[in-house]
Amino acid sequence: MGIITALSLSLIIVLLVVNALAKSDFEALLELKKSIPKDPSAQVLDSWDSNSLASDGCPKNWFGVTCSDGHVTSIILNDVGLLGNFSFTHIIGLKMVRNLSLSNNQFMGTITNIASLQSLEFLDLSRNMFHGFIPSNIVKLKNLVLLNLSSNSFQGTVPSGFSNLEKLKYLDLRGNGFNGDIMHFVSQLGSLVHFDLSSNKFSGSLDLGLGNSSFISSIQYLNISYNSLVGELFAHDGMPYFDSLEVFDASNNQLLGNIPSFNFVVSLRILQLGSNQLSGSLPEALFQESSMMLSELDLSLNQLEGTMNSGSLLVLIIAVIISIIF
Ligand SMILES: *[C@@H]1O[C@H](CO)[C@@H](O)[C@H](O)[C@H]1NC(C)=O
Ligand SMILES: *[C@@H]1O[C@H](CO)[C@@H](O)[C@H](O)[C@H]1NC(C)=O
Ligand SMILES: *[C@@H]1O[C@H](CO)[C@@H](O)[C@H](O)[C@H]1NC(C)=O
Ligand SMILES: *[C@@H]1O[C@H](CO)[C@@H](O)[C@H](O)[C@H]1NC(C)=O
Ligand SMILES: *[C@@H]1O[C@H](CO)[C@@H](O)[C@H](O)[C@H]1NC(C)=O
Repeated sequence: MGIITALSLSLIIVLLVVNALAKSDFEALLELKKSIPKDPSAQVLDSWDSNSLASDGCPKNWFGVTCSDGHVTSIILNDVGLLGNFSFTHIIGLKMVRNLSLSNNQFMGTITNIASLQSLEFLDLSRNMFHGFIPSNIVKLKNLVLLNLSSNSFQGTVPSGFSNLEKLKYLDLRGNGFNGDIMHFVSQLGSLVHFDLSSNKFSGSLDLGLGNSSFISSIQYLNISYNSLVGELFAHDGMPYFDSLEVFDASNNQLLGNIPSFNFVVSLRILQLGSNQLSGSLPEALFQESSMMLSELDLSLNQLEGTMNSGSLLVLIIAVIISIIF
């Protein structure tokens, strides 16, 4: 009996200690606040006041913070000029946070402990000074719909396992120092809508025959410009049946060979393949009735033959005019 009482007593003590260690959401944000020394607009951190709490333990009127039943659901701090080392370690306890958007500040640091933010749907760190690798446990964020890391100083290869992110629709890595074989990465991607890899150091050839057919049918915006891509486009299986593709930009790489036919890409509006080493002639399919959506075409600075004979130029002009009219 005495033993059982002692055991349950110590269990209670253990539970109390664990509870005391687990920080509430608002306490976590106060920790985060301490690591942000500069708030030029003076409207953010002053409002993060430990005395300004609602009865459910939610921060009350804290700039950029949405909270319900004591749990922070979103932190939106775009365009306010905050400066500091953003420490993900401070916010690992925020189990209900769905939006974390820090775009266009001066945050530094690396992404760490991200996998504990299990509810995250929108993660936007764009236009800051974050650096380092994407941690491989980012692929545990099963609810992620948007991942925007553009315009930072991230580098290295993208971890594998992106196929686990089944809800991911928008992936923007533009303007970093990412490298590695493009297909090693792209072949893991499912039904994305928007995919921007531009202005990085990806290498290899774009060969979507090796990719997932969901990706090919769902992608609307595909920008792989300003990388170190080589070889022929779609050399392996030929032109994929893009059902939804509206914008394709592969300019400023070292692509070779003929321009792919782009037949059956009926929704294509913008095609940019300039500044490569493409050769051969213009594919007729671009000027057929089925391509009437096309309103912007850039093939400049390549090695095309008989570039734009007046016949096809006329058809192109008519196509552009028609697409403007309709
Ligand atoms: C951020 O961290 C770096 C390296 O630990 C340090 O040199 C720098 O002073 C920190 N910056 C701020 C604003 O705290
Ligand atoms: C999260 O951000 C998305 C996109 O900006 C928005 O549609 C959604 O309403 C936001 N959700 C919350 C909980 O703030
Ligand atoms: C990512 O962020 C940049 C800069 O804030 C923005 O221009 C771009 O539209 C965003 N990408 C997506 C897919 O929302
Ligand atoms: C392709 O992507 C879809 C949608 O994300 C996914 O369900 C499927 O498992 C993927 N297939 C392969 C072979 O990875
Ligand atoms: C593709 O990305 C480049 C570089 O990031 C950008 O300048 C260009 O406007 C984008 N292309 C399209 C068609 O959006």
